[in-house]
This record gives sequence, structure tokens and C-alpha cells, in this order.
Amino acid sequence: MTAPLPLLNVRDLEVRFRSGGIGLPGITLPGLGVRYVNAVNQVSLSVAPGETLGIVGESGCGKSTLGRAILQLVDSQAGEVRFDGDLISTRDKASIAKLRGRAAMIFQDPYASLNPKLDVGEAVAEVLRVHRKVAPDAIPARVAELLRLVGLSPDLARRKPHQLSGGQCQRIGIARALAIEPSLIIADECVAALDVSIQAQILNLLMELQRRMNLSLIFISHDLGVVRHLCRRVAVMYLGRIVELGPADEVFAAPKHPYTRALLAAVPDIDPDRVLAPAQLRGEPPSPLDLPAGCPFHPRCPHAQDICAQGATPQLRSVGDAQVACHFDLLSMTKQGEEP
Ligand SMILES: Nc1ncnc2c1ncn2[C@@H]1O[C@H](COP(=O)(O)OP(=O)(O)OP(=O)(O)O)[C@@H](O)[C@H]1O
Ligand SMILES: [Mg+2]
Repeated sequence: MTAPLPLLNVRDLEVRFRSGGIGLPGITLPGLGVRYVNAVNQVSLSVAPGETLGIVGESGCGKSTLGRAILQLVDSQAGEVRFDGDLISTRDKASIAKLRGRAAMIFQDPYASLNPKLDVGEAVAEVLRVHRKVAPDAIPARVAELLRLVGLSPDLARRKPHQLSGGQCQRIGIARALAIEPSLIIADECVAALDVSIQAQILNLLMELQRRMNLSLIFISHDLGVVRHLCRRVAVMYLGRIVELGPADEVFAAPKHPYTRALLAAVPDIDPDRVLAPAQLRGEPPSPLDLPAGCPFHPRCPHAQDICAQGATPQLRSVGDAQVACHFDLLSMTKQGEEP
């Protein structure tokens, strides 16, 4: 039996931001201090229909940029994004419109993602109008239906965002995402700004909707415990690269990249059955403007050897059901391909 086609397929995606230097928009004057942040570096991943993929990693590792680049909210410089088999390209506006009609993002700050001047009913109606999801005269009923779907009373439709709690605002953000009847939602730290009790409510709501509607979900979070609970697969990012990708159970129970291992060690209770002893993460990540040669993790890696600094950047390779970008087999501490 052949595997189902992925809904989303990302290949070798690269996003660079210009930093500093002198230039005019669109014109770069060479040699005048222009530097680039490689926010997303050769990222490949796929998401099946109805699947939940977690993306974790320290602040600044490129999680949000990856999510935004998938939805073409920032430009990418290389690589490709395919959605439902179609190549999405900035040169082909129709492909972007099609993508935005089926994929939505939920952002971290529930207030900032809403227009303060619009009442929240209007904010949801706007999405229905832009995407022509229902006939104009059916919009009020659909808005009420969407508000009920996210556990809000339709009476709240006439309130402005500042008259709602953070949790209520985030539910409006989810209602706006659901308004397009999406196949894919990218939730970027969507509960980080909320109280813990409200976080659980929002996460439960998201998971219930995900199951009920067979949504694919990319769940970006700092919270490894939540990702473990919610996501079938997980991608670990470090300085713009995916360094480990695999089934969440496997990655959390037996991390194969030293970075994943260190990240998990920072949350000691995440899995009492973990097979590896904790390792501490030393220091801060290097500046993304000045990436180290070789493996980008080597300056902080407790297992680094000469090859890690002097060799090529390790690419993802399959180990069991997971993929890992390390020269060594951490579980046996042998170099890739060597006998233990
Ligand atoms: N518009 C931009 N212009 C320049 N640099 C940017 C821009 N957006 C992001 N960056 C840089 O790209 C890198 C990745 O940022 P990104 O916001 O994607 O990280 P993140 O993993 O989402 O972090 P956090 O966990 O703090 O949200 C960082 O070095 C950041 O400073
Ligand atoms: Mg972010």
C-alpha cells in the first residue's frame, strides 16, 4: 500500500533576512556592512492530512519564520513549498490565494492579531467575506456558529477586542482561522500569552477541533510537555535547521541529537522513563549573523570532536523512525557508520 500524499511538503526551504548595511529597498550596495540572518536553513518536512507536527527549539531558532514562510507571509530565497501537491510560488499569486484559502495561522498575541477598531464579529465576518466562504446574507449566522464552535457566546460578537479576556481573544483567533474551513493550521505559540488554566482550555479546544475536522496542525511551542502531549511527530530546530525529526514518542524517550537531549534535560519531569542521563546545555546559541563552521551546535555540544568543527554541516539521516543531523550515534557514541 502506498503512503497517503502529504498535505504539506517543504523541501530545502531557506529564509534569509538582511541585517544592517546601507541600501535602498530592493537595492543592496555591496560591501557596505550588509549581513544576513539565515533564519531558516535547508528545512525539509512534510505533514500528512490530519497529522500534528510539533516544532520546538530555543528562542530565535527560526520556528516562527518557518511557519510564516510556509504560508508565504515572508519571502523565502530557496527551496519549495507544496500544498496538496501544488507548488506554491510568489510568482503565481493564484497558488498563494489557494493556499491561504485552506491554511491559516494562529499567532501568539491574541490582542495584537485583532484589529482593535473592529468588533470581534466583524473580525470573523471579514475572513468569511475575503474568502467568499458563504453568501453575504448568511454571514451573521455563520459568525454565530463559529463563535459557538470555539466555545463563545454569539452575544460577544459586538464587543471590541479590549473588552475580551486574553483567552476569549485567542478563541476569536481560532474562529478566524476556522472560518476558512482550513485543512492546515499553523499555531505559533498560540497559548504562551495566556494563564495556565486558560492554556489548557484553548489546547483542548484546538485538539478537539483538530480531531473532529481532521485538520493538519503544525504546533510551534517552547513547551516540550505540551508538544509531547499533543503531537504525533516533532521537529527540533537549532539555528534555522531541523536537527532531529521523528515520532514524538521516540524523540522524547530516546533523543538522538545532543541538542534535543540537552533541551529535554532542561525539563526534568518530561519523561521519567527516558533512557539517557540528562546533559546540560552550555551557554547561549551563537549569533545567527555569525554561524560557526561545521555543525552549528558544536560550540555547545558536550560530545564535539574535531570533525564537528572542521567537517561539513551534518545533514539529516535516518535512524530508526527518526532523522538526526549529527556525525555521531549518540546512543552508542560511535561515529556514524562505525561499529560500537
Ligand atoms: N523580519 C525580520 N528581519 C530580520 N531578522 C528577523 C526577522 N524576523 C526574524 N528575524 C531573525 O530570524 C531569526 C529567527 O527568528 P524567529 O522569530 O523565527 O525565531 P523563533 O524560533 O520563532 O523565536 P521565538 O521562540 O522567540 O518566537 C532570529 O535571529 C530573528 O532575530
Ligand atoms: Mg516565534
